[in-house]
Amino acid sequence: MEENKYKRTLITTALPYANGPVHIGHLAGVYVPADIYARYLRLRGREVVMVGGSDEHGVPITIRARKEGITPQDVVDRYHKIIKDSFEEFGVSFDVYSRTTSATHAETASEFFRHIYDKGGFVEKPSMQFYDEGAGRFVTDRNVTGECPVCHAQGAYGDQCEKCGSSLSATDLINPRCAETGNVPVMRETFHWYLPLDRWQPELEKWILEDHKEWRTNVYGQCKSWLDLGLQPRAVTRDLDWGIPVPVEGADGKVLYVWFDAPIGYISNTKELLPDSWEKWWKDPETRIINFIGKDNIVFHCIIFPAMLMAYGDGYQLPDNVPANEFLNLEGDKISTSRNWAVWLHEYLRDFPGKQDVLRYVLTANAPESKDNDFTWADFQARNNNELVAVLGNFVNRAVVLTHKYFGGTVPAPGELQPVDTQMLADVRAAVAALTDALDTFRFREALKQAMEIARIGNRYLQETEPWKVAKTDMDRTATILYMALQLCANLAVACEPFMPFMSARLVKMLGLGKPSWEMLGSDTLVAAGSAVAQPELLFEKIEDEAIAAQLKRLADTKKANEAAAWKPAPVQPDVDFDTFCLSDLRAGTVLECERVPKADKLLRFRIDDGTPEGRTIVSGIAKSYPDPSELVGRQVVYIANLPARKLRGIESQGMILSAEDKDGSLVLASVSRPVAPGAQIK
Ligand code: 2FM
Ligand code: ZN
Repeated sequence: MEENKYKRTLITTALPYANGPVHIGHLAGVYVPADIYARYLRLRGREVVMVGGSDEHGVPITIRARKEGITPQDVVDRYHKIIKDSFEEFGVSFDVYSRTTSATHAETASEFFRHIYDKGGFVEKPSMQFYDEGAGRFVTDRNVTGECPVCHAQGAYGDQCEKCGSSLSATDLINPRCAETGNVPVMRETFHWYLPLDRWQPELEKWILEDHKEWRTNVYGQCKSWLDLGLQPRAVTRDLDWGIPVPVEGADGKVLYVWFDAPIGYISNTKELLPDSWEKWWKDPETRIINFIGKDNIVFHCIIFPAMLMAYGDGYQLPDNVPANEFLNLEGDKISTSRNWAVWLHEYLRDFPGKQDVLRYVLTANAPESKDNDFTWADFQARNNNELVAVLGNFVNRAVVLTHKYFGGTVPAPGELQPVDTQMLADVRAAVAALTDALDTFRFREALKQAMEIARIGNRYLQETEPWKVAKTDMDRTATILYMALQLCANLAVACEPFMPFMSARLVKMLGLGKPSWEMLGSDTLVAAGSAVAQPELLFEKIEDEAIAAQLKRLADTKKANEAAAWKPAPVQPDVDFDTFCLSDLRAGTVLECERVPKADKLLRFRIDDGTPEGRTIVSGIAKSYPDPSELVGRQVVYIANLPARKLRGIESQGMILSAEDKDGSLVLASVSRPVAPGAQIK
């Protein structure tokens, strides 16, 4: 339903797991779009609240704690602070940013479970689960490791193989072990409470498939396939010691499943912010709830959490829209915390201090709204240099510099408008209308394009009116042009505020503009004639190639380190019988000469002393691993002496020199451990 039919809007943002810092994928997928929307509504004078917090339960947090020898609470304390600071630094304007280990949250989530339980909204069911007899406790799928039944990688988790990405159950693993103790787990019966999603299927079908056809295609489509498959009951408790205890007798050792408590976090966050009035933000039909999330969270927000809210009843409202984004990749590869394949926000700020808006801009211009998108450093540099510097910064700078040059920094009074001026205003108003429409329908890429269009209109206007030429003959007309250009700068300051709040604040200050509001847009009376314009300062600066090269080098180093970490010896070749093997005549010889083969970047030509007066020539493809061939002269190498001679680049090669291929693909010559007579046979 349209935004203005509601009294207020509650914006929720997916709660990031507090087991690592946040990266550009988080910002692009959830927090920048949510922040743009919240800022836009505030500029429109709407009643709006944006809530967020860290998701501090779940098994991966316990795994990290175990690895580091600290408690799960230590882990979440550390990352909650890093995450919160990053959001603040990037201007994500949360009204509250809390955490799921807060007392309010424990109380709220407990009560939520208990209320549904008391209404008979859960089904209790026995199930078989792995149990660690040595440790005397159940182990979750995530806490069992073993060989992946699909790709046979070792160390696959019981819920997923990180190598091949297959979704697994712990019972699928070959040779399962408890990750923590190394014990072989046994099967034991347990029981859990399930939310019978099937009970809510008809309501969910109507609510999504009929009432929310306007949702993004990816969101609607994912929901439809879940519904078409038929919803099944989902377990909402776990046998685990990290989480919110299940508030029911006989539930010792059980906690709420992290995906049960996390979305309730939105309610707890609102309660922490507005202890006395939170209910109207959740239960008043005149409140509009919007959930900003990434695509991996769709089912939880569109099916499971709504079913929880329906099961609870008591007037809880369902979200009006869930504008989920697809994923952002980094230089062509999936962003991954465990593989360190990411641009971490705290590191970005260290490397590009003060450039929060540049990243916000690039991530919005390239937002993965309808398909996965790629962040590349080359695109980052190009958008900064060619768009922010050359279009937006350049326009504002020209307008302000010319005002200082011709009018001493005072906004000049305009004369009568000419068609070029009114046309420019009409163009700005059209861009503003398109911008507003795009924001209302969660199309933030398009919205940003329209905001930038205002700067493009400004540049065209100055190009057409050429105030620097007009100033030679007609100061009245120059005054009108610069007055209009400054109005356009003011329009830009307002239109860009949701996207680039830091730049906008500087521009507002430069122009001496009052508090920005959306109503100002399209106006040509925002900065008053006679008021002062501050000295021009550059809003954006060029990003040089070296800064980009440093980022690319860091990624290349990460890739190398990942490849080395993932290295496994090649599979052993099929058996060969001993007599056949003995037919190969292996020898040690001394290198007499070694040089590069011209025009062949991989080849070296060796002259080998093989104990015969003639010696032998061997060509070997190891030049890349030995850039200085002269250092090999005098060394002893191992070669196959009885291979038929063959020509390589016109040189007859009489045998083959042996080398080992290392993790990084480099070749290392095989040798003997002390000097032997040239031509000695290796047996
Ligand atoms: O996918 C995630 O990162 C989850 N921590 C999101 C939770 S969203 C909400 F339900 F709290
Ligand atoms: Zn696998």
